Amino acid sequence: MCGIIGYNGHKNSIKVLISGLKALEYRGYDSAGIAYYNGKRTEIIKTAGRIANLEKKLKPNIHSNIGIGHTRWATHGKPNDVNSHPHRMHKFTIVHNGIIENYEVLKRELIKKGYKFKTETDSEVIAALLDFTYNSEKDVLKTIAKAEEKLIGAYALGILCDDEPNTLYATRKDSPLIIGVGEKEHFIASDVPAILKYTNKYLILEDNEIAKITDEVTIYHDMKAVTKDVLTFEGDLEVAEKNGYDHFMLKEIHEEPTVIKNTTEPFLIHGLESLLKKMPNFTKYKRIEIVGCGSAYHAGLVGKAIIEKYTNTPVTVYIASEFRYQKLFTDKDTLVILISQSGETADTLASLRKIKSQNVDSLAIVNVVGSSLAREAKETIYIKAGPEISVATTKAYLAQVAILSLIALNIGHKQGIISENKANEIIKSFEALPSYLEEEISKNYKNIAKALYKKNISFYIGRGIDYALSMEGSLKLKEISYIVSMCYPAGELKHGTISLIDKGTNVISVVTDKAIADKTLSNIKEVKSRGAIITLVTTDEIAKEFSGADYIATIPKTNDFISPMITAIPLQLISYETAKLRGCDIDKPKNLAKSVTVE
Ligand code: AGP
Repeated sequence: MCGIIGYNGHKNSIKVLISGLKALEYRGYDSAGIAYYNGKRTEIIKTAGRIANLEKKLKPNIHSNIGIGHTRWATHGKPNDVNSHPHRMHKFTIVHNGIIENYEVLKRELIKKGYKFKTETDSEVIAALLDFTYNSEKDVLKTIAKAEEKLIGAYALGILCDDEPNTLYATRKDSPLIIGVGEKEHFIASDVPAILKYTNKYLILEDNEIAKITDEVTIYHDMKAVTKDVLTFEGDLEVAEKNGYDHFMLKEIHEEPTVIKNTTEPFLIHGLESLLKKMPNFTKYKRIEIVGCGSAYHAGLVGKAIIEKYTNTPVTVYIASEFRYQKLFTDKDTLVILISQSGETADTLASLRKIKSQNVDSLAIVNVVGSSLAREAKETIYIKAGPEISVATTKAYLAQVAILSLIALNIGHKQGIISENKANEIIKSFEALPSYLEEEISKNYKNIAKALYKKNISFYIGRGIDYALSMEGSLKLKEISYIVSMCYPAGELKHGTISLIDKGTNVISVVTDKAIADKTLSNIKEVKSRGAIITLVTTDEIAKEFSGADYIATIPKTNDFISPMITAIPLQLISYETAKLRGCDIDKPKNLAKSVTVE
């Protein structure tokens, strides 16, 4: 997500803004910029790329006492100079973190009123709305309050107005913003790390509060000044970047409910109508091929299970490094879906280029806006996972599964297999999904981790969609705990693998599909009778009928469209807790890179 910094005080604001932006780099970004008052007007310097590029554009010896800065994680519009923040519209210059859902409607209204826009962003619309509102309000505080009434979505804003060059304003809704409190100087920031170099005292701006910062700070709620507690951050920069979590991986797991809401809401905001309108026309294809690497491939396996269960469309899933060299059987009736968090994975990109050379239609499911895969695919669906810092993916994988599940719902309904009532019921369950995820995330998996962490080998088994989910659970465990973890379709054990089962061997089994639960439960009994220690990840309904597990993690029974994402939570947290007990470098496992941009 984007990063905001602002300053008003006796120091040179340029230095404060740059150091603040550097402290926010961990949030991930693709462009950066600052705005400052130079005594005559508000100057803006901004650029695509790293903060080092921005520093190269700064004129030497510039000095100011007030300014705002921004690192952009692109959501609307490519990561380039013009789309980067700050954005100015006449008297107002702003930086924005969040997503304005009704920006297109507002933009059309403002264009009719004579406003001209230079960027593709939702943020520039905020600057124009402030300027337009100010023309009648003539008071900045009232202008901000009035403009906020029109904004739908999430925003944290740093605001400068040319008519009040010594005042910094800030406001927020659903996007974090803190006010740093120093000696006769104040800061605004998305997160504590940005101000720690100067102060560890801060107050939290609440939704719909407006901060007016001169040489003091006043917070307004409904236009009335309110007092706030000044908090003290105890900890260093690294602790701050993880927001108090021990690892980015755990922080990102805790972000999953919000990520799933942000990813699915644009398709479900108007129910079936938006689900059908905002997705490509999948039913014109006779078959779908899904391509990805690692967890992205595993998300594809889950997608295959759901799509094939609820549609007449056959799905084949390929590992990209294989797909790129194998003979293709694709044609004009095939849609190739390429999944990639980074959008830069070499094998996945090569696979896209290969099918494009044969004029095969492509859809990319990507997290990073403007990444190569997003730019080169015929169509792109963005997951809204925000930057994923931990090498082991969690929130991006979950969001990929969510999109594939919505694709299954879209096709199933259009093919007449899922009725309107059933589809609306499933859409309703997606609205409840964030709270299901929160419930699973709140549970304690340490007891299961204690059973796993001392052993150097483990097995995951499952059938159908549970095998697909087990594949990801197994990868999570091995990549961060270095335990050799093998995953097999439960029915395969008798064909060789069961020879590896000894007394005390850990077997983790995922059993959520009631229709085939008995088969896997009997496989569990087979390995248990040979001494295996069983960890069962299952629904509360199935758990009632089975007592053969040594450890059990239960999830609520829901439906095939949201259950896979709920099941993924215990698998992710079991891996995390196990790796933690083994003292592993969870966020940066040895030999691994976040994005494999080479073959
Ligand atoms: C998963 O935890 C790993 N980080 C890895 O398997 C990853 O999913 C794979 O390299 C694909 O990356 P991508 O989604 O950026 O293409």
